[in-house]
Amino acid sequence: MIKKIDGHNMYYNYVGNNWLYTNDEKMEVFSPVDGSFLGYLQKMNTKDIDFAFAQARKASKVWEYLPASERAEYLYKTASILEERAEEIAKVMMYEIAKDYKSCLSEVTRTADYIRFSADTAKTISGEGIPGDLFPGYKQDKWSIVKRVPLGVVLAISPFNYPINLSASKIAPALVMGNTVVLKPATQGAMSALHLVKAFVDAGLPEGVLNTITGKGNEIGDYVTDHIEVDFINFTGSSRVGKDIAKKVAMKPLLMELGGKDAAIVLEDADLDLAASNIVAGAYSYSGQRCTAVKRILVIESVADKLVEKLVPLVQNLKVGNPEDNATITPLIDEKSANYVMELVDEALDRGAKPIVKGKQEGNLIYPYLLDNVDVNMRLAWEEPFGPVLPIIRVKDVDEAIEFANKSEYGLQSSVFSNNIDHAFYVAKRLEVGSVQINNKTERGPDHFPFIGVKSSGIGAQGIRYSIEAMSRLKATILNTKDEYK
Ligand code: G3H
Repeated sequence: MIKKIDGHNMYYNYVGNNWLYTNDEKMEVFSPVDGSFLGYLQKMNTKDIDFAFAQARKASKVWEYLPASERAEYLYKTASILEERAEEIAKVMMYEIAKDYKSCLSEVTRTADYIRFSADTAKTISGEGIPGDLFPGYKQDKWSIVKRVPLGVVLAISPFNYPINLSASKIAPALVMGNTVVLKPATQGAMSALHLVKAFVDAGLPEGVLNTITGKGNEIGDYVTDHIEVDFINFTGSSRVGKDIAKKVAMKPLLMELGGKDAAIVLEDADLDLAASNIVAGAYSYSGQRCTAVKRILVIESVADKLVEKLVPLVQNLKVGNPEDNATITPLIDEKSANYVMELVDEALDRGAKPIVKGKQEGNLIYPYLLDNVDVNMRLAWEEPFGPVLPIIRVKDVDEAIEFANKSEYGLQSSVFSNNIDHAFYVAKRLEVGSVQINNKTERGPDHFPFIGVKSSGIGAQGIRYSIEAMSRLKATILNTKDEYK
């Protein structure tokens, strides 16, 4: 997988049954932690991409017909290999995407659990036999035997922020259902993702079943997503890119997890300590670079001051700095992203937001901001910063909270904090989002729960069983018999 070029690591792609050096074009990858040079990735060209898809297509004709229980065995082996290599992979990830070491490690072990659970779940996917005579006019001589079959070649596109978990959450359910996969990871994160692929390869996965593509999204993205051999696209990334893909690939089925502007709605009867600790953990972990991060607080005016009092020390005490020291606030993925965060902060400050915790920017590192009195005329009320900044929007009552929550173009998750279950359900019922958390921060896990984005936040439902269902289809074979004995 890794060869040395001028003393530096060069990551090859896995295509067919080989780690391939496809052409001389390469990309340099630097660490967002300290700018150090991490190595090279290959820039695959259209010929290389065609080859990867051809391998996946060829393999799908064999893999599909392997007994499901045998396919599951490859996943169990992969999960064990990942666990053995957890520390090594976590270190690669930490330097590649500047996520704190503890979270990197738990991402790898969470992924091993995910893969194992996918194999377990696939073994519970059964079919059904439907008797024809249930419908008027039919006799007892006709049965529909219905089962789930794979879709063919799945294109998995994973983002930088969970390079192991959000690659595996596409690969494992796809493979175990009999699809073959071509993985295109985000460039920053691809080294970690290739370590994940190596675990599958070392588990003995047959030729062509899992293949990888690296290269710049803006150069090869369209070619990859429009490729004739792609039967299904499973994408996690920004809403902008997701919409672009959806427009271009008309008629290709999609499963997409996109952006979010998750609101934490704090009602008058909330446990404010619980709300504050959940909100801070939900908003600032991995510096807010999570689609499910809490990205705005909508608090009823009568309890807003008390909530603010509790939030401020928690935000002030967040550890800022190096991922090796398990800091919560670490450098953002690149300076462009940090500049965007500051653009939103500065605009809100100019328009009168109150910086109750005032951060600062040092290159791609942003010290946390907590801004009070953000109003609906500020960009920060609506846009997704993907950084450590949290706006507080004070609302007069619960209905205004619901109105502002739903005005967003996004619809991933929301939290409601209340000690009154009827009040919590009143709000939950009215929120236009995929999931509502009652008295908890917004988050994806546990991974077997459905994870749904509506509006600009996604298409379809993920989560182990749901991903398996999304990457398979029903096939009916109709058995016609004669009720006679000759
Ligand atoms: O960034 C998007 C991820 O799906 C968020 O997952 O809630 O486990 O952090 P998480």
